[in-house]
Amino acid sequence: MGKTQGIADGGNPLFKQVYDYIVDRIERGEWKAHDKLPSVRLLAAQFKMNRLTVFKAYGMLKEQGIAYVKEKSGYYVSAGNKSNVRQLPAYRSEDARLSASVHLKNSLNDIQQIPVDYQFSQALIDPNLLPNLFLSDYVKRVFDLYPKLMGTYSTPQGDAELRQSLSRYLGGELRVELSASDLLITSGSQQAIDLISRTFVRPMDAILIERPTYSAGMDIFRQQGARFLPVDIHPHGYDLEHVESLMMNHRPRLFYLNPTFHNPTGYTVPASQRKRLVELAERYKCLLVEDDAFHDMYFDVPPPPPLFAFDTDGWVVHLRGFSKYVAPGLRICAIAARPNVLEPLITAKSLADNGTPLVNQKIFLHYFESVRMRQHIGKLRTALQMRKDVMERELAETGWSWVSPQGGLNLWLRLPDTVTADELLKLSIRQSVSFVPGDICDPLGEMESRIRLSYSFVNEATIKEGIKRLTDIARG
Ligand SMILES: Cc1ncc(COP(=O)(O)O)c(C=O)c1O
Repeated sequence: MGKTQGIADGGNPLFKQVYDYIVDRIERGEWKAHDKLPSVRLLAAQFKMNRLTVFKAYGMLKEQGIAYVKEKSGYYVSAGNKSNVRQLPAYRSEDARLSASVHLKNSLNDIQQIPVDYQFSQALIDPNLLPNLFLSDYVKRVFDLYPKLMGTYSTPQGDAELRQSLSRYLGGELRVELSASDLLITSGSQQAIDLISRTFVRPMDAILIERPTYSAGMDIFRQQGARFLPVDIHPHGYDLEHVESLMMNHRPRLFYLNPTFHNPTGYTVPASQRKRLVELAERYKCLLVEDDAFHDMYFDVPPPPPLFAFDTDGWVVHLRGFSKYVAPGLRICAIAARPNVLEPLITAKSLADNGTPLVNQKIFLHYFESVRMRQHIGKLRTALQMRKDVMERELAETGWSWVSPQGGLNLWLRLPDTVTADELLKLSIRQSVSFVPGDICDPLGEMESRIRLSYSFVNEATIKEGIKRLTDIARG
C-alpha cells in the first residue's frame, strides 16, 4: 500500500499501515459514525495486498472500539470514537515524552488576533518600516509591463521569470548550482510547510522537531497526526549525538528546523553542525526541512551558509520566505529542492491552489531586483537592531534572562520563578500588551517560564511604554 499511496512504510507492518489509513480518515471526518467502511476485498484490491492483512487491521479497529461489525454487512465506524482514536494505542507512545494528536489549531494566531496597543506577539516587520510609497510604483509598473496580468494564471510551480531571478540570487548565496526548475514558489513559508507536511508525513510518522519551535509550524505537523520527537536547541546548536540516536532508533520521516536566527530563541546553529547534520540526514534518510525565513535579517555578521549548501544527495529542502523583510502581504516563498522532493510538492501545490497569484509574483520580482530593495534591507537591519537594543535596555533591570540574538525579530526570555507566562499573558492582555507564551512553542507543552517578545512590529517609543507596562504587571 505504502508505495502506491505515496506512503513510504518506514518499517511499519502492512496491517498497521491499513489501520493508520483508516484511523486517519476517521479522524479527518471523512468517515463518520455509522458509515460503512470499505470491504476487506475492496481495500485489499486497492492496496494490492493480501486480504488477511486488511482483515487483521480491521480486527484491531474492532478490538479498540473504533469500528464495529454488522452481521453479513461489514465493518462500520463506531459512534463517539474520536476520543478513543486520540488516546490510542500503546504502540503510539514508544516514548512517554512524545505527543501526537490530530486537531486543527493555530495557537499563535489565536493570540495575535487579540487587538492590543502593545503588540509583542507578532514576529513581523512594522509596516511603517516597509517602503510603501515605492511599492505602489512597482505595482503600476508591473501592470504597464504585463497588461494581461489579471487575466493570466501562474503555472503551479511559479512564474518562470521569478524562479530564474531567485535561482540566481539563492544559487549565488548558497554557492550551489541552482536553476529555475529547482524552485517552487509558494504562498508564504506557511504554505510551504503545509505542503511538505501533507506530502511527506502520514499519521503517526515520527518527525524531529526543535524544542522550542515555530508554534504554527508545529500545529501544521500536528494536524497531520505526526508524532513529535523533540530536539532541544541551545545557543550553540543541537546535541548531535542525541539527534543521531533519535534518527537511528525512530527513523523519523523528517526534521523540521529553523537553524538561522531561530524562532523563537534567535539562536543560530554553527556551520560545523550543519555539515554533520546533513551527513546524518543522508545516513538515516531523514529529510531536513530547513525553514530559513530570517536568513537575511542579521545585524552585523551574515549567518553561516544554509544546510542546503552542504547537501549533495537531496536530503535538504530549503524554504526561503520573504515575508519577514520584503512584503508579508505578497506571500512569497521559494522552496529549493532536488527533483525527488520538488516534483511531488509541485503536484501538491497544484492541488492546493494551482499557483501563487501571478500579480504578487511579478510585483515581488520587480521590487526584489531593484536597487531600492538592497537599500531597504540595509536600513531595515539598522532599524531592527535599534529596536532590539531599546527592548533589551528596558528589560535590563528586571532580572529576566535571555541570550542577545545576532539577528531575527525576537527575544526569548526566562521569567523569574514567581511568574508563569500564562498568568502574565492573561493579566497583560487586560492591559493591552501581548506576547507569545513559551508553552505554545514547546512540542511538550511545557516551558511555562519562557516568553517570546518581538521587537520588530512596534516603534521604539511603544516598545518602551509596553515593556514598562509588562514588567510592572509581572512585579505585581
Ligand atoms: C520560522 C517561521 N516560518 C514560517 C513563518 C511563516 O511565514 P510566511 O509569512 O512566509 O508564511 C514564520 C512566521 O512567523 C516563521 O517565523
